[in-house]
Amino acid sequence: MNLTKPLSILSLLLLTLMINPTITAKVFRPALIPKPEKTEWLSGTFNVSAKTKIISTDKELSTYLSEQLNELTGIKPEISETGSGNSIVLKTDVNINTANKEAYKLTVADNKVEITGASPAGVFRGIQTLFQLIDPAIKSTHKNKDAHIPNCIISDAPAFGWRGLNFDCARHFMSKSFVKRYIDILAYYKFNVLHWHLTDDQGWRIEIKKYPKLTSVGAWRKEGDGSTYGGFYTQEDIKEIVAYANNRFITIVPEIEMPGHSMASLTAYPENSCTGGPFEVPNIGGVYKDIYCAGRDSTFYFLRDILEEVTALFPGDYVHIGGDEAPKDRWKECPRCQARIKAEGLKDEHELQSYFIKRISNYLVSKGKKVVGWDEILQGGLAPGAVVQSWQDFTGAVKAAKLEHYTVVSPTSHTYLDSSPEDVDLRLCYAFNPVPVDLNADESKYVLGSEANIWTENITEQTMDSKLFPRMLALSEAFWGKPENKNYDEFYSRVQDAYADLTALGIKFGAEGKSFSPKTKYDDKKKEFTVEMIKGQKGIDIYYTTDGSEVTTSSKLYTEPVTTNKTATLKFAAFKDGQSIGKKVALAFAFHKALNSKITLNIPFNDRYRAAGEKTVIDGVRGTTNFRDGNWQGYEGIDFDGVIDLGKETELTRVIPRFILASQSWVFLPSKVTVSLSNDNVNYTEIKEVVNDVNQKSSENILKDYTADFGSTKARYIKVHADNIKTIPDWHPAAGNKCWIFIDEIVVE
Ligand code: ACM
Ligand code: ZN
Repeated sequence: MNLTKPLSILSLLLLTLMINPTITAKVFRPALIPKPEKTEWLSGTFNVSAKTKIISTDKELSTYLSEQLNELTGIKPEISETGSGNSIVLKTDVNINTANKEAYKLTVADNKVEITGASPAGVFRGIQTLFQLIDPAIKSTHKNKDAHIPNCIISDAPAFGWRGLNFDCARHFMSKSFVKRYIDILAYYKFNVLHWHLTDDQGWRIEIKKYPKLTSVGAWRKEGDGSTYGGFYTQEDIKEIVAYANNRFITIVPEIEMPGHSMASLTAYPENSCTGGPFEVPNIGGVYKDIYCAGRDSTFYFLRDILEEVTALFPGDYVHIGGDEAPKDRWKECPRCQARIKAEGLKDEHELQSYFIKRISNYLVSKGKKVVGWDEILQGGLAPGAVVQSWQDFTGAVKAAKLEHYTVVSPTSHTYLDSSPEDVDLRLCYAFNPVPVDLNADESKYVLGSEANIWTENITEQTMDSKLFPRMLALSEAFWGKPENKNYDEFYSRVQDAYADLTALGIKFGAEGKSFSPKTKYDDKKKEFTVEMIKGQKGIDIYYTTDGSEVTTSSKLYTEPVTTNKTATLKFAAFKDGQSIGKKVALAFAFHKALNSKITLNIPFNDRYRAAGEKTVIDGVRGTTNFRDGNWQGYEGIDFDGVIDLGKETELTRVIPRFILASQSWVFLPSKVTVSLSNDNVNYTEIKEVVNDVNQKSSENILKDYTADFGSTKARYIKVHADNIKTIPDWHPAAGNKCWIFIDEIVVE
């Protein structure tokens, strides 16, 4: 060491530490989520190393802990029933909390970690806290490096006993390994229920030996592009997943939907419907009118056989039988259903629904199971003992609890994570309290807990993480913590630290809310558009491109408003820790001959879309594939008819009106678009008719240009007329309703 050199920064720091003992080297402080009831941080650390032993008489828990530590850190501690030295001790002691089996106490003290659970489930929850105490830097490297865990004393217990995720594997099939991965993720954040949505209109996903067509037919559908999509779990797969979940103290509640959401089943066995079919497994989400026939006894025998196999596979106490969104149209017209209403002395089809649910419920109760159903099972009277899952809002839960029925409270407003984070954001999720305000203390006892819901019409394995996270963090705390202990700012700061953990676990998180929003202005003098971005989330960078290419972290970093004076697509994306999050924004600007001219609409557009304004179709800003983005005019059940006035006779070659297809939202393409030209706004010449050539059955949103190419022609006025197909076709779940058409930008060249 060269003593003549000035003191290095490091030695200065060491010197400061010696002089001032209150400044110590930074100890990793983990962001525990959900936050334990009580945490006391102590000085010093425990070191998980190759020498660490697990001391426990519970083989399953100790094996799980050893293997999982190996996964997280590369260190696989030995297990023994007794011993001392550097060790992690697992114990159970009912006395730590006689009222709550999931309670645990965790102490980390220099040479020893002790996890005491009120039951093995409590030990398991405590083990998850231990995992969260490990620095994400170690988890990311898996380098068999010692993991220093801060000394602490934690005592903890959940506020709610039902902390679930409703996992829709029907709309999109999720592979066995993906389901297991999610079971691990749920465990890590202390969820204890996997509500497994296994059947729906768009697919039947569970092998039933007695009815092989449920999977050979019902598990497969034709997509809009003609390809076949599907998949299912064999009974062996299910057993494997159930055992995996069981090992992690997660109960699987299987959901077999009835009487509605059953198109896949009815396609396989149409004899269980009112009309007898035939049907197709639909590829579009929605509510279908064809449901199980409540008049045929054979329907009930069929469902009973299915449930017999289901109950044999799932050892948990509960079976979910759906019950939601069952339109009564077919039952009203079906002689068998009407005969049933008469024979059973029922008042109407709602009571028939109640009859249906009760009959199925009685069977399940005879098999020792409890029944869960969506809040529509309240219609016409609840089945004895049925648990009501309140989804539409809180009212189902309130009604159920007042009737002394248990309830799982998972309203769309706070727990539907298939909703965009822009609508249901992190703050809203965190604010959620499973106990409805309309219940008194006695009635509140009927609230079992809650579930996050993920409906997968538009979600696949690739996008699942980004929908669920980080919002699942907020729900995990809302389900585990006591509502009175919440503090959003403090939680939010833990979430910022938790991102490193999410990254270490390989969770490709999405946005917390609206990550950024554009403000666009047109300067008529400079003839240019300016785009300003407003950030809505901490710790993100916005990047952009102006040549239409995809945005990456190598693109330009947004630091000030961006301008363009030519036709271009400006693409923006937000990144956090190198990961793209939230909606990407593509702003397409079209400089064309009608830009900022005059337009007269002969048919007014729907007032719901008034924000777009009259001139949106000639403002140069093109609508995105989201027809609610403020750039689109919507017309419900009526045609579009408008006249552009260019101000003077102008040489024209093409007029390109653009429409959008969004069939899931009842938005269809016009059957044809007609373009006429005039010089006096009185006498028009029809110059081109463009007929739609896009398949309206596509489940994806499609932008369609009706390009009217007519060679060089002079005109001042351009009339565009689009024919709405008016009535939603028979193949669609909303058949018979009015069709919408949406237009944005009529490009004139
Ligand atoms: C539901 O979202 N239809 C339960
Ligand atoms: Zn019927």
